[in-house]
Amino acid sequence: MAEAPDPVALAAVRAHVDAARRVCVLTGAGMSAESGIATFRDPATGLWSKFDPAVLASVEGFRAQPQHVWDWYAQRREGMRRARPNAGHLALAAFGRQRPGVLTVVTQNVDDLHQRAGWPETIRLHGDILAARWLTPCPRGKACDPAAAAVGRPPRCAECGNLVRPDVVWFGEMLPERAVDAAEHAARRCDLMLVVGTSGAVWPAAGLAHTARRAGARVAIVNPDDSEIDDEAHWVLRGTAATLLPPLLDTRR
Ligand code: OAD
Repeated sequence: MAEAPDPVALAAVRAHVDAARRVCVLTGAGMSAESGIATFRDPATGLWSKFDPAVLASVEGFRAQPQHVWDWYAQRREGMRRARPNAGHLALAAFGRQRPGVLTVVTQNVDDLHQRAGWPETIRLHGDILAARWLTPCPRGKACDPAAAAVGRPPRCAECGNLVRPDVVWFGEMLPERAVDAAEHAARRCDLMLVVGTSGAVWPAAGLAHTARRAGARVAIVNPDDSEIDDEAHWVLRGTAATLLPPLLDTRR
């Protein structure tokens, strides 16, 4: 569990941030933990230590218990709407604005805190919890808007009964292709990858650190605890997103 970050490693990563022409930042649930949003796999507090992902994060679970799953996501959505970007989100967005063309943020998070911090171009690998889509593709295509189906938990299409579901990626589903392509492109081209607040347990996101390293980038991890991809990193900085990203990314020094 959390030690202080090694000052020599911190200085080395800072130097690479300053020198890098392209920085790719991969974020996970730990990025938003200090905004009050629960992670998934932290012991005791992680969502998957209290709730069953087979029910709450799969098409089969949704089909079996649509109201239960819809209500769980509705509750999470409310928490995310109330949450505010933390100092880590703000430091990333400020860095991106101060060094145009340098930063790519790739997130596994389904909240919108990077965007609200001021980095709307964030690549979302796992979807957007505030958006909705049809459970099965609607034959009427775009003409049939899931947001218009407002009645019911979950809302249903008044004509065919199709259910509305949260627009997030569930286990066993493909990630959005354009987001994956953009994330892999950024990982292959960066000089420095910062991996912030992810356990590295979920693929293909977890593979981006390896992709970056194999392509010649330096890799640094920011996490108060061990992750499954620590071996990919040149430096592991023990600490939290909101405490370590501001000093790492401060362009005024
Ligand atoms: P996890 O819950 O698996 O991992 C969260 C990581 O954040 C852990 O390694 C913690 O040690 C670390 N952490 C906790 N607090 C932190 C803080 N303040 N600062 C920095 N790090 C901190 O979350 P993910 O790796 O994001 O899928 O999980 C990947 C995917 O699994 C999620 O996107 C989600 C889940 O099923 C979907 O929602 C589709």
